[in-house]
Amino acid sequence: MVEVVIEVEGLRKEYDGLVAVDGIDFSVRRGQVFSLLGPNGAGKTTTVEMLECLRSPSAGRVSILGHDISQERSIKDRIGVLPQGFNAFDLLTVRENVEYFAGMFDGSVDVDGLLRWVKLDGRQKELFKNLSGGMKQRVGIAISLVNDPDIVFLDEPTTGLDPSARRDVWRMVESLSGQGKTVFLTTHYMEEAEVLSDYICIMNNGRIICRGTPREIITEHGGSPVAFVRGAGEKGLRLLQEAYPDAALVEDDLKVPVHNGRRVSEILNMLDTGEAHYDEIVIKKSTLEDVFLRITGKEYIQEVEGDEE
Ligand SMILES: Nc1ncnc2c1ncn2[C@@H]1O[C@H](COP(=O)(O)OP(=O)(O)OP(=O)(O)O)[C@@H](O)[C@H]1O
Ligand SMILES: [Mg+2]
Repeated sequence: MVEVVIEVEGLRKEYDGLVAVDGIDFSVRRGQVFSLLGPNGAGKTTTVEMLECLRSPSAGRVSILGHDISQERSIKDRIGVLPQGFNAFDLLTVRENVEYFAGMFDGSVDVDGLLRWVKLDGRQKELFKNLSGGMKQRVGIAISLVNDPDIVFLDEPTTGLDPSARRDVWRMVESLSGQGKTVFLTTHYMEEAEVLSDYICIMNNGRIICRGTPREIITEHGGSPVAFVRGAGEKGLRLLQEAYPDAALVEDDLKVPVHNGRRVSEILNMLDTGEAHYDEIVIKKSTLEDVFLRITGKEYIQEVEGDEE
C-alpha cells in the first residue's frame, strides 16, 4: 500500500495583507523525492516552513505522518530540516556543530557515521567558518539527519554551489531516498529537479500551477521536439518549406519542429534528395526548464558563486 506521509489541504499564509500561499493542496508519498519549484517569492519557503512547524498557517490543514501538525507538534522529532541559506556556528568545529544539534533530540546518533556519510570525517576539527560552501551545506545536511528523520526538508540545498558540490548533494538526496526516507526539496535548478524528483509541484504567486512527474509535466506542457539542421541555410529552408511550413532559419541553421509523427529521416531524405549541404542534425526535446519558463513566464538568474573545495 502506498503511504502518504504529507497531506496538505487548503494551506494558506498571509503576511499583513500579502497572500504568500494561496490555498494549496498536495500529498507526498513515503520514499519520494518531492520537489516544490517556483520563481523567487512564489511561496516555497513559506510552504516548507509551515510543514516544518516553523510558521503557522493562516488557514488549511497539514498532516505529517498521519498527525495533524496543529495538534501534534512532537512530529518535529521525526522530520529533518535544512533551512534556506543555512548557517551553523562559525566558531564551532564541524563535529561540535553536529553534536550540538544532535543534543537537542533524545536518543543517540552515530556522529562518526554521519560525518563519514557526508564525507566530512577528515574535516571534523575544522571551524565551520573556514569551510567551503559545499562543505557547509554538507554540515547542514548532517545536522538535518541527527534525529534519523523519516522526512527531510531541504530548502535550496545546492544554491551557490559549484557543479561538483551540487552533484555531491544529488548523490546524498538519492541515497536518502534509497534508504526509504522522504525528501522534500526546493531548488532553482531545473536540471536538478528533473534528475532527482519523483514528483514536482510548480508554484507561482502562492498557487500550484502545475504538478506531476517530470516526464508528465514535460509531455503535457513542453512543445514538440525541434530538429536543428546545422548549416542547411536558405537552400535547406526552400526544400522543406512546403512540407514543414513552420520550419525557420536561425542564422544558417534550420529549426524544424517535429510533431504529428513526422520523422527526422524524412527531413534528411528531403535535404539529401535536393542535394542540400548540412553539417549535422541535432534533436532538442523540451526540458523542465523550457516548461518552467513557459508556464511561469519568468527567467531564472542562476548564480554559481564558485565555492571551491
Ligand atoms: N516573514 C515574512 N513577512 C512578510 N512577508 C514575507 C515573509 N516571508 C516571506 N514573505 C513574502 O512572502 C512571499 C513568498 O516568500 P517565500 O520566501 O515563501 O518565497 P520563495 O518561493 O521561497 O522564494 P525564493 O525562491 O526567493 O526563496 C514573498 O513575497 C515574500 O516577500
Ligand atoms: Mg525560498
